This record gives sequence, C-alpha cells and structure tokens, in this order.
Amino acid sequence: MSKPKYQEIADAVIHLIDIGHYKEGSKLPTHRALAAEYSTTPVTIAKAYTLLAEQGHIESFVGRGSFVKSKSSLRQAIQSQFVEDEWNFSILQPCLAQQLTALHQQINQCFTETASPALFGYIEDTGSISHKEAGMRWLQQFGLQVRSPEHVLLTNGAQHALSTLIELYSQPGDKIAVESLTYPGILSIIKALGREPMGVELDEQGMRPECLQEVCEQHKPSLVIVVPSHQNPTTTTLSLERRKAIASVIQKHSTWLIEDDIYSFLNPEVIAPITNLIPEKSFYISSLSKAISPGMRCGYLKAPQSQIDNLSAYIRTMIWLASPINFEVATQMINSGLIFQLADQQKRIAQQRQSVAKRVLKDETTLSQQSSYHIWLTLPENVDTDKFVMTAKERGMFLSNGRYFCHNEEYSQHVRLSLMSIADDQHFEEGLAQLKHLLDQSKL
Ligand SMILES: Cc1ncc(COP(=O)(O)O)c(C=O)c1O
Repeated sequence: MSKPKYQEIADAVIHLIDIGHYKEGSKLPTHRALAAEYSTTPVTIAKAYTLLAEQGHIESFVGRGSFVKSKSSLRQAIQSQFVEDEWNFSILQPCLAQQLTALHQQINQCFTETASPALFGYIEDTGSISHKEAGMRWLQQFGLQVRSPEHVLLTNGAQHALSTLIELYSQPGDKIAVESLTYPGILSIIKALGREPMGVELDEQGMRPECLQEVCEQHKPSLVIVVPSHQNPTTTTLSLERRKAIASVIQKHSTWLIEDDIYSFLNPEVIAPITNLIPEKSFYISSLSKAISPGMRCGYLKAPQSQIDNLSAYIRTMIWLASPINFEVATQMINSGLIFQLADQQKRIAQQRQSVAKRVLKDETTLSQQSSYHIWLTLPENVDTDKFVMTAKERGMFLSNGRYFCHNEEYSQHVRLSLMSIADDQHFEEGLAQLKHLLDQSKL
C-alpha cells in the first residue's frame, strides 16, 4: 500500500533537511508555496508539517511559519544509520560482520544454565571484582600499569567515563583543555555541562606540549583531555617523548589529565600511556567499542588511588552499575584470549582498508597510519566543505565534516572518513571510487 501524500511529502522534506538543502534554523516554504511545488493542497502540507513537528524535525510558530530544528552537532558529525547501497564513511566502529559469529557463540556460551544468578540481580558496589580483574588484563595488554583490580571502574562505554569525569572534576564555567581538533563526543559533553573547551595546538606529531603549557598558565583548565593513539580525527599517535613532555606539563599544574586511549589496540607496538608517568594525576579510559562492539557498552576507567572512592560513589549514585551481563561476556572473552584475537583481526582489516584507500584516493592529501580506522582528508582548496559533504550525501556517501571536530566549530577544509563501517569489501571500494570521482569533479 502506498503512503498517504502528506507522509510522502514529510519524507521528502526530511531528506532535504538531511542533505542540507533546508539548513538548520532556516524557514521552510509556506503551505501555499510547497503545495504548488508538490501539486497538492495547503491542507496536505499542513498535515505534513504537523507530522514533521511531531517527529521533532521542525518547529512551527503561529504567525511566523515553520523552521528546521537544530540537530546536535554530534548527530551531524556521526551518522549511525545504515542504508543498503549507501556508504557510511562517518562512523568509527569495527567491521562487525567479521565478529558476529564469534560474538553470538560467546553470548550463548555465557548464558547457559551455569551462569551465576548473581549476574541478574543487583550487585553491591560498582561491579564484581572478576569483571574488574578482566578489565585490568585488557588495560595491561596495551601497556597500562595497573596494580590492583580495585583501581578499575566499569562504565557504559568510554563516553560514560568521559561524562562522569568531566562532571565530577570540573565546575560549570570551567575551562577544559582539549586537542584543537578532537572527537565531537568530547566537545558535546563539555558544552552540554556548561564548561568551555580550550583548543591546544597540534602539529603532525599531535598535541604540542609547549602550547599545553601556555594554555595551562593562561587559562588554568580543570582538566586536560588527550587521545594519544590514532587520534580522532587526525590519526596521530603521540611518541613516548611527547607523552613524557605532556606528563611533565600536567605534573607542574593544578589540573587532571584524562587519557582517552580507546584506539591503543591499533598501535603496531605497545607505547606506554601518559598515565604510567603520572598515575596520581591521570585517569585512563579504554573500552571495547572499537575493537569488539560498541553495542556492548563496556568501558574501563583506571583512576588514581586517591579518587577511587569518590568515583565509585558517584557512579553508584548516577547509574548504580554498568550492566554485569555485558561485562560477563567481556570477561569470558578476555579470559579466554578470544578478545585479543578479534581485536587483532580488526587491526588487520584496518590495514587492508588503508591500503585500498591509498590506492583509490591516490593523489589526495590524507593523514592516517597503516592501521588507523579512519583518514583525515584535506579537500582541494577551491572546494567548500559544507557543500561537498552535502553533495556527497545526495550521492549516498556520509562523510564527517571537519568543522565538528574543531573546538570552536570553525570552518575546516577537511573531512573524516571512516574505513570500517561498511561491511562488504567490494561495496567499500566502490564507495571510495565514487568519492574519488566526486573529488576529481570538484577540481575541474
Ligand atoms: C576518542 C573517542 N572516545 C570515546 C568514544 C566513544 O566510545 P564508546 O563507544 O566506548 O562510548 C569514541 C567514539 O568514536 C572516540 O572516538
């Protein structure tokens, strides 16, 4: 059965909002104007607008008209939707198709009749010690020094660890130092909580310690947040030397470090985290989202000894505890070693995809490492990024506009390309070829 006309029109308007034809905050055509465009009546358009308002896409004001509602920049930067035949280059997640059989098997195995009933009830404290021990093993594998499972807290992914730390260790109005280009999820927490991001300059090796020093002296940030491995979005990994220099700046100032090392499993060799150098001034975050599955929402947070009670009490207050059922699956996968095989497999896929991307994108200006999940692509000089992202979307390619990674959302000549969210190799290569074609056309 075909859809009623007003629904078809509502769908068409959503598409036009999605591709940026109707921009956020802009006024939509009057009922009469749109009715003429779609050869229908103003009453049908009124019904379409009512539906769009109910679904949260637009806002209507008596006497003023209807306006496109602002979406959060996080949703614009990262699109999790999957549409067959389209190419989602915007979300950084593992190539899930490769993990599903192993994950299904593991989940089945976990929840046989032998599963502990305690897993299904409330658990005292913020998680069971066996889950924290497994977390400790996961963190140690990538070079973190953890002396006791008591120092590991369980969170709903890295995002929850970040929001918890920002809320607990800064006040509204405080400044928070971040890499001048960083993961939009960090910026959105900072802004949602009424804190102010201060960008620290980057060079080709990552955060510049002398600039961090300046920011710390001038702005006295409560927190400094660094993504040290395969930085999102620039892909740089901090050398040991840089890590030491950053640690020494943090040591000298009255501030905490949050080290979000969610991509450490992609490093060719283990590099000691900054936290090892300043364990009493740094929080270290990892999660299983990138290596195994974002749907598991398993995050691990290693905190300084002095802050464990404070943090545990806060997590207990806010969520009681992260789901023990998910952490049981994670624990069994860590204890059997399967998790490290799966993480390695994803690293190999990332390497293959990087070499395909190099071949297809040829002469384009890109930043990435051999095993990064993504590429930071510089668009040709004459190209307007907003328009380019919109045209790409019209042709079925979702890219992340560089402006959402800038601490002040200023214009950027870059887009971030995820190489991992498209499951099929051939479909992935076709998408890249389409993108290259669009880039070549834009240079004419
Ligand atoms: C640097 C960084 N931190 C945190 C996250 C969120 O991770 P999680 O899914 O574990 O909450 C992401 C996701 O893209 C990320 O890139």
